[in-house]
Amino acid sequence: MLAGSKIQIFNRLLSNGYLNKYTIITLNREKNYKYGFTVFLQKKETMAEDLQIAKGSKAEQYQALIPQIKGLLDGEPDLVANLANVAAALKEQFGWFWVGFYLVRQEELVLGPFQGPVACTRIRKNRGVCGASWAQAATLIVPDVEAFPGHIACSSLSKSEIVVPLFKNGEVAGVLDVDSELPDHFDTTDQQYLEEIVKLIAL
Ligand code: SME
Repeated sequence: MLAGSKIQIFNRLLSNGYLNKYTIITLNREKNYKYGFTVFLQKKETMAEDLQIAKGSKAEQYQALIPQIKGLLDGEPDLVANLANVAAALKEQFGWFWVGFYLVRQEELVLGPFQGPVACTRIRKNRGVCGASWAQAATLIVPDVEAFPGHIACSSLSKSEIVVPLFKNGEVAGVLDVDSELPDHFDTTDQQYLEEIVKLIAL
């Protein structure tokens, strides 16, 4: 039995993580209940702050992160919300300089959810690493961005990059772009797991 005033009960449930602020609107009046209300207990939504940051090899870090990304995506149909959380989860785990998405809009890639400094908003097909990945429908690993013809420098701090295409019905619908301040930062382990991660996103 819950003891105390309604406000005390609410506050205790809130601070114990049983309720979130949206739960309050689910309270119903019920005449025969001592406090005049029925409280529907609802497990607090999983928050991004619950992300468990893994240590270990790069592969181990991805292996720990992927089930958590599945959890973040589970039951959420909104593309912007999902791209935003995937970018945030990757940024939190790996601390990369820039990680985010560009989405195909007509003849261009347009900036989508990302984590990191402000970035170029539009990239044409075959321009830069992102546009090349789109045109080739393939993951590109660039160990030295300055050696990549046509690389678009959104920031001079970026030294290496990996771009992974996202597919919808066999067509490239966007790309995941990751930049590092360190040269030669990305390899086929990143490719393997990032390709696995983007397949989890329903476009
Ligand atoms: N460097 C990318 C442009 C996007 S930013 O790095 C965020 C490219 O060459 O396509």
